[in-house]
Amino acid sequence: MECQTVVKENMIQRPRRLRGNGILRKMVRETRVDKSSLIYPLFVREGKGICEEIATMPGQYRYSIDQMSHKLEQLKNSGVDSVMFFGIPDYKDEAGSGAYAQDGIVQKALREARRQFGKELYLITDVCMCEYTSHGHCGLLCGEEVDNDPTLELLAKTALSHVQAGADMVAPSDMMDGRVLAIRNELDGHGFTQIPIMSYAVKYASGFYGPFREAAGSAPAFGDRKSYQMDFHNRKEGRKEALLDVDEGADIVMVKPALAYQDIVREVADLVEVPVAAYSVSGEYAMVKAGAKLGYVEEERVIAEMAIGAFRAGASVYLTYFAPELAELMDRGEIG
Ligand code: PBG
Repeated sequence: MECQTVVKENMIQRPRRLRGNGILRKMVRETRVDKSSLIYPLFVREGKGICEEIATMPGQYRYSIDQMSHKLEQLKNSGVDSVMFFGIPDYKDEAGSGAYAQDGIVQKALREARRQFGKELYLITDVCMCEYTSHGHCGLLCGEEVDNDPTLELLAKTALSHVQAGADMVAPSDMMDGRVLAIRNELDGHGFTQIPIMSYAVKYASGFYGPFREAAGSAPAFGDRKSYQMDFHNRKEGRKEALLDVDEGADIVMVKPALAYQDIVREVADLVEVPVAAYSVSGEYAMVKAGAKLGYVEEERVIAEMAIGAFRAGASVYLTYFAPELAELMDRGEIG
């Protein structure tokens, strides 16, 4: 039987989506993405010949520097050309001195990546103390409290040492007050006025960081990070943090995590005049992997929706452990 459309005169216009084939659907897409928006987080560690899988993040590894180049090559070939380095040192102390050591793990990784890839890769570093302090907190301690102001000096020193080793951009993730300005002043004072700062401006205290702390061995030895990371009940506080960081000179502001915070991404994107980044963190990755392994969700569809959700919310930069997979989905035309 032939399908018939009944057209009545004066029929009320019903709500209607544009229908049609794939060409039309792509023509009218509201959110467009490409690989240049993606940043891949990479864990580098001391040692030789090491490429160890992170138990809570299947498919993600800690690389020793000699093993890292293979991964960087792969990323570059998939079209992902921005990398964020996280360092896992062999040695930790109260003052987190490995964070700003000239031969610290991140500094060495940067020099090697620069030597091998020149300017073909954009090298970003996470600036924080928690991977380097014996107590696992993001700054110096005074008793059991993080001592904000003395920490600023060390963060600035860390950022400078990264830039001197070849970083293109630094990303402070510690959440101390005033650190963006402290880093800006330190970099400018050494002639690095062109190096941008991407601040983890709106960073909530989150259970979604669990697998990262396992990966980096950076869980706090006591207490939690709630005195310096944000309470997830708060929205206005997120606006305030974003504005403060822009004021101090942040060039890009980040919202983290991404998945449960897309309202905040939208809010911040509407508020500030700088690009907004969203970080889909380790717990988001782990959940998808676990669900997919059990056959409960379809991995590719879920990661595509998570990514597009962040962009739709207003992010123009997206940090994700799924960057290579997203690049492939773009190659296949599934998203883009
Ligand atoms: C360092 C830092 C963390 C993450 C990025 N930088 C851990 C934390 O704040 O506890 C989390 C990244 C992730 O979970 O993927 N402060």
